[in-house]
Amino acid sequence: MKSITALTSLLLLGAVTAQEIQSKPFNLVIQSEKKAINGQKLAACHTGAAIESLCLAGGSGSEFYLNTTEGSQAPIKGDKPSGTLVWNLPYNGNHHTEVESEPMSFYVDPSTNVAMPLFQPSYDQQQVMFDKDGLMGIYSYLDDSVTPPKDDKVKVLKNWYVCETNYSAYQYRTLNWVLGNGKAKPQNPSCVKVQVHRKFL
Ligand SMILES: *[C@@H]1O[C@H](CO)[C@@H](O)[C@H](O)[C@H]1NC(C)=O
Ligand SMILES: *[C@@H]1O[C@H](CO)[C@@H](O)[C@H](O)[C@H]1NC(C)=O
Repeated sequence: MKSITALTSLLLLGAVTAQEIQSKPFNLVIQSEKKAINGQKLAACHTGAAIESLCLAGGSGSEFYLNTTEGSQAPIKGDKPSGTLVWNLPYNGNHHTEVESEPMSFYVDPSTNVAMPLFQPSYDQQQVMFDKDGLMGIYSYLDDSVTPPKDDKVKVLKNWYVCETNYSAYQYRTLNWVLGNGKAKPQNPSCVKVQVHRKFL
């Protein structure tokens, strides 16, 4: 009985202390060998009701945030813990502008290996991280290129590309992620390899 009570209070304590911490606002800036897109900022672009993709926006980008769990630690020394990439959708409620904090998740269409980051009200979230140079990546644990598959070594993948996409008839040049261990080429021929740099405002 006593141990159950102790466990319950531990769980409650855990629920109370696992706070989401929101970073300061930042821009996401494209780095690429392609001069035309190098240095362009990313903006949240309307792609459906309360759905936004990340599109090229020249010199004026959107403000993004990273939500991390208090006390979380990076699995690689020198890097930062992963978190949820957030964009605030403004809307008019109660006579003044309010915001809906939207997490980023990947939209995966089975017909392509090019996944599309989208902000939308959702429980689905794709965690991202920023390395010591401020470049956005994703911690990867799974290696199924060997048999049996392993998941005991962590590495950082940065499979980012800018591609022409057509999501629900909205065509933009958007940020995308090529699924896999970084060795696969995007099947969308318009894709250009990029890095995504975090620049605090
Ligand atoms: C991000 O963190 C802030 C501050 O804790 C919170 O208000 C917001 O709802 C969070 N957003 C998401 C998508 O978790
Ligand atoms: C995107 O796809 C839709 C549906 O196939 C099509 O009607 C539209 O023309 C496409 N957009 C562009 C700009 O090609």
